Parts: sequence; C-alpha cells; structure tokens
Amino acid sequence: MKQVIRPPSRIDASVAVAGDKSVSQRALVLNAIAAGTAHVSNLCVGDDRSSVLRCLRGMGVRIRRHSSCHISGAEECFEVEGVGPGGLREPENVLNAGNSGTAFRLVSGLAAGQPFLSVISGDRSLRRRPMTRIVDPLTRMGAHIAGRNGGSLAPLAIQGGGLNGIDFEMPVASAQVKSSVLIAGLFADGRTTVVQPAESRDHTERMLRWMGADIEVDGLRVSVRRSALKSRDVPVPGDVSSAAFWIVAACIHPNARIRLNGVGINPTRAGVIRVLQAMGARVRLENVREGAWEPTADIVAETSDLRGTEIGGDIVPQVIDELPILTLAACMADGTTVIRDAAELRVKESDRIKATVEGLSRLGARIEERPDGVVVHGTGRLNGAEAGSHGDHRIAMTLGIAGLAATGQTVVDGAEAAAVSYPQFWDTVSSLTDTGQ
Ligand code: S3P
Repeated sequence: MKQVIRPPSRIDASVAVAGDKSVSQRALVLNAIAAGTAHVSNLCVGDDRSSVLRCLRGMGVRIRRHSSCHISGAEECFEVEGVGPGGLREPENVLNAGNSGTAFRLVSGLAAGQPFLSVISGDRSLRRRPMTRIVDPLTRMGAHIAGRNGGSLAPLAIQGGGLNGIDFEMPVASAQVKSSVLIAGLFADGRTTVVQPAESRDHTERMLRWMGADIEVDGLRVSVRRSALKSRDVPVPGDVSSAAFWIVAACIHPNARIRLNGVGINPTRAGVIRVLQAMGARVRLENVREGAWEPTADIVAETSDLRGTEIGGDIVPQVIDELPILTLAACMADGTTVIRDAAELRVKESDRIKATVEGLSRLGARIEERPDGVVVHGTGRLNGAEAGSHGDHRIAMTLGIAGLAATGQTVVDGAEAAAVSYPQFWDTVSSLTDTGQ
C-alpha cells in the first residue's frame, strides 16, 4: 500500500496512543502463568498483540476479550485465566510469533521451563533474526533446542523442563534476552542470574516484583528463583515508542503543538525524551504519576529549534526503537548528529540502519551509514519523495512523520507495515493533514 502525505500548515492536536507493546506482552505472558484471573486493559493494538495471544492460547491459556472492563472501566480488556505453575499444555501445532521478536523470545523462555515440546516460528523477517542469543543460555539451563542453521534461526523446537539456574553474562544489552532467561528462571532449580552489559528496559523486573516473584536487582545484575506469581490487573500505560513519532512530529514541524496523555515514562525506556531535550526540544511532562509499578505522564511537544547531538554508549538500549525517528529529528536539526554503538539496529524487523539511511536520503537528507550507526548532517529541510518501509513498521512511520514536515508530497511505499504496532497511525496522519490546519 502506498500512503501519500502532504504537510499541514499547522498542527494542534491531542493524540491518543494505545498501550505499550512491551508492557502488554509481559502482562499477558506473566499473568498466563500466574495463579488467578487478571484483567489487562489498554492492551497494545496491532499484529504483535495477536502474535503473543496466539502463542499463549496455543499453550492452553484461556484469554477472553471483553468490550468493556468492569475493573478499570476501560473500553476493552483481556481476561487472562492464569494456569499457575505446571498448568501450560503442550501445543498441538507450531506457535506462530508472527513479526514479533519479543513474543518469540518471551514465549521461548516460557517453553524452556515446560516439560514438553514446543515449536515456535514467525514470519520471514523473524525467521532471519538471531536466536543464538536465547538458545545458548536456555540450553545451558537444560532445555534441548533444535533450530534451522545449527540452532541459530527460527523455527526452534524446544524440549523444556528440568532446568537449573545459571549465571549468564549477556553479550548484548537486550531486554528480550534478559526477559527470556528470567522467565525460564521462574521454572528452574536454584538461582538464575543475568548480568547486562548496559541497562535495557526493565518492565519484566518491575512486573515480576509486583507479582510477588523472588527477584533481586543489583545494578546490572538481576536474579530470580522459582516463583509462583500472583495475577495482577494491569492498566497498560500508553506506548512511549508510539508517542515518540508524534513528539518528533511536533518538534520538526514549523507550527505545531501535540499533547499525548497517559504515556509510560519508565526511565529505562523513555530515553527518547532525554535525547530530544538535549537537542533543545520543547517537550515537557505534565501530571507525572508514579503508578503501582510503572510511571506515566502527559507529554506536550512543540515546534523546536533542534541542534545536533551524540547518541552512543549506555543510552542506546533505552532509545533502541526510537533511533529511526531520532535520525529524522537529526535531519531537521542544526549541526551534526552521530549515532554509534547501535549495531543491534541491523537485526531488528529490518536492517534499520540501512532502511533509515535509504529512506531519508530519498527525501534529501545528508546522512552517512556507519557499521554501528549513522552520521547526520542536519539541514533543517527535507523534500517530499517516494520511499519504502522495507516491511518495517517503525521505518514506515518514520517516513510518514517526515512527510508531515517535508516540502511537497511524500509517498510511503509498504505503508501497511505500520499495523504491526500502530494500526491507527495513518488515520491519525490523515486527521492532521485533512483538517486544513
Ligand atoms: C523489546 C526489547 C527491544 C526492542 C523491542 C521490544 C522488549 O529489543 O527493540 O521492540 O519488549 O523487550 P531488544 O531487547 O532485543 O533490543
């Protein structure tokens, strides 16, 4: 599908973003193995949510959708009947994690802890993504795993059960890997410890603690022991990664103000706000609420005079999904921006370094590709053109936001990819451009 975008002369809007994808997936997976029934409201939308629901249902978990939630009053909620430890069932068929690396890796951790065989696969993009990073530690814990290409690629066949805790020095700062091993650790004898090279999003640790797991966090070291979880009703905070598109849209548009209410601002996750503020962005948080286990805030972003910056080192895992949209912000900034230490971008839903450079260059950006990032020479201007999503939701949306600030008409080819995490994205873009603002 091709989407055409013409820049509006003014943007003044309040945009509602759906629930956080990372928190949603953890809320479903962890409540699935808890004892009791939980209501998860404001769940993420899009194909990735279907992927995790499909995998959990495939392991015998009953999850029902209600069109209104009698607990939170929300418009929609999912009732998860936790099966308790030992309650999952051997899946009769291949579990299909679709496009979702998170669903794949969380469910693999779960499967490793179960005394039966699970076969997990995904779409073409997922079947190309590296799985050794979870196969190695889960195998060391005692799971028997076979997969394509010597066990490094999906589909993976996981014969689980009989796990022992390990000490695992993670080679990459990946929250998916950390979470996979910690979830397996809930089913292992002894203590399972992961040591991260840098701090990645800690949604799993926060939720495990809240659900009563035996978990200790000491700096970059996280340990769990076999635990029975208490189910929790989860009102999922708004997704800061979805919000980031609108925050940048407001900052780079010459006459804009966008408000986003109830967005998750967990510091291990919301690095995008800190980076933009360092670039001189007019972004402020209002109504900061600590919440039972994750903080939220309302975010207001306005037209800004951005300047170039350096993004590298420990902040990278905390902005990993926002690097394409931050690259766009850098194109519209004054001066040079260097993004380094971000080679992980090459193994996301697409090679996001290549896809971002290719897409934004078509719009006239001066941007150089590096093995682990990019160098952007900000020109403060982009010219509408046609560019492709590489089948990647975040690239499709980055190009869509570029179209709101570029001169003339921008066409995003493969725009349907946005539906993986944000099916309403193009409707919102159209509402901003159609109002004649
Ligand atoms: C996620 C972690 C990140 C991120 C992904 C979601 C998660 O991946 O890119 O979109 O929910 O744990 P890595 O932890 O592998 O970098």
